[in-house]
Amino acid sequence: MTDPFTLAQPQICDLAPYQPGMPIETLARKFGLDPASIIKLASNENPDGMSPKAKAAATSAMQDASRYPDGYALRQALAAKFAVASNQIVLGNGSNDLLDLIARVFLGKGAQAVSSQYAFGVYQLITKITSAENVVVQARKFGHDLAAMRRAISEKTRIVWIANPNNPTGTLLGAAELETFIADVPEHVVVVLDEAYSEYLKESDRADSVAWLEKYPQLILVRTFSKAYGLAGLRVGYAFASPAIADLMNRVRQPFNVTHVSITAAVAALADDEFVAQSRERNRKGLRQLRDGLDKLGLPALPAYGNFITVKFPDADEVNEQLLRQGVIVRPIKEYGMVDYLRITVGTTDENARLLVALGTIIKKY
Ligand SMILES: Cc1ncc(COP(=O)(O)O)c(C=O)c1O
Repeated sequence: MTDPFTLAQPQICDLAPYQPGMPIETLARKFGLDPASIIKLASNENPDGMSPKAKAAATSAMQDASRYPDGYALRQALAAKFAVASNQIVLGNGSNDLLDLIARVFLGKGAQAVSSQYAFGVYQLITKITSAENVVVQARKFGHDLAAMRRAISEKTRIVWIANPNNPTGTLLGAAELETFIADVPEHVVVVLDEAYSEYLKESDRADSVAWLEKYPQLILVRTFSKAYGLAGLRVGYAFASPAIADLMNRVRQPFNVTHVSITAAVAALADDEFVAQSRERNRKGLRQLRDGLDKLGLPALPAYGNFITVKFPDADEVNEQLLRQGVIVRPIKEYGMVDYLRITVGTTDENARLLVALGTIIKKY
């Protein structure tokens, strides 16, 4: 056969595949470690697992898994909880799926998408897949520079991608500056506000972004059940948008993109406010535990508004290698150009303590 790379769309050939955190089994095989002894603080998963109610719902949903799924119950539950109309809601196979749908609706050859340096890497990846051009704006203190992003908008711009809080830098934009930006965006531009980590924010830091939907029809909110709800492996996300944008997204969405088991678990997870509140509180304490420990080790870290903290090391590669040998998986973020940093997901109290002990032994060697 002709080399598939000469046949493929040219923009696909030089894509760098998304690099997920290393799976536990992979590390176990690499160093012959017992998988049970490994801790994974690499993918911003919830160390509390999922709500027991969501688990019970998912297990019983297996009884009906021979039927095609129907998102009605989850759209109804989201509509009731957030006071949006059900024709404003799109469900996704994780929020990644929704980001991809938005890109396919609005981007293509000749279009531009504006994003920030160090913003979630999937934005540039999916923009490139559509043949649109990435306009990447220099970060300010590792976060989005909204004034510079506004200046980067051209006639060709169709999407501005914003992650709030951002992954992998953990930075947060305030509600007022964010709303000022959205209000000022020209009418031919859609603003995608990715709030994957918003459940971890304390009330006073959280923008009432759902209320903005009525005022700003070009705003799309994207959220996920993967983080505070603990359903990462089930793949459920949702977007809120104007009915017209939701209609367009549904036209490119695969008809059964979220499974019945996942939808059922998400409905139960959404109703369990107590579980999410506990996860938020455990995360807050864990962040403090990590920050105190890192301070003692003299390791500087970036702001941390999500469920992870991004830390600067004298030799991040070496520290990562040594952590892996001790059965601790964290996330190098070299592909973001952050070669001196490792991103560490907040774990349980014990996991955080083990990470800090491991770092202590490694740092002493410098
Ligand atoms: C900012 C941000 N957006 C979206 C996602 C995608 O998550 P999922 O597809 O699991 O919903 C992630 C995952 O890490 C993320 O960090």
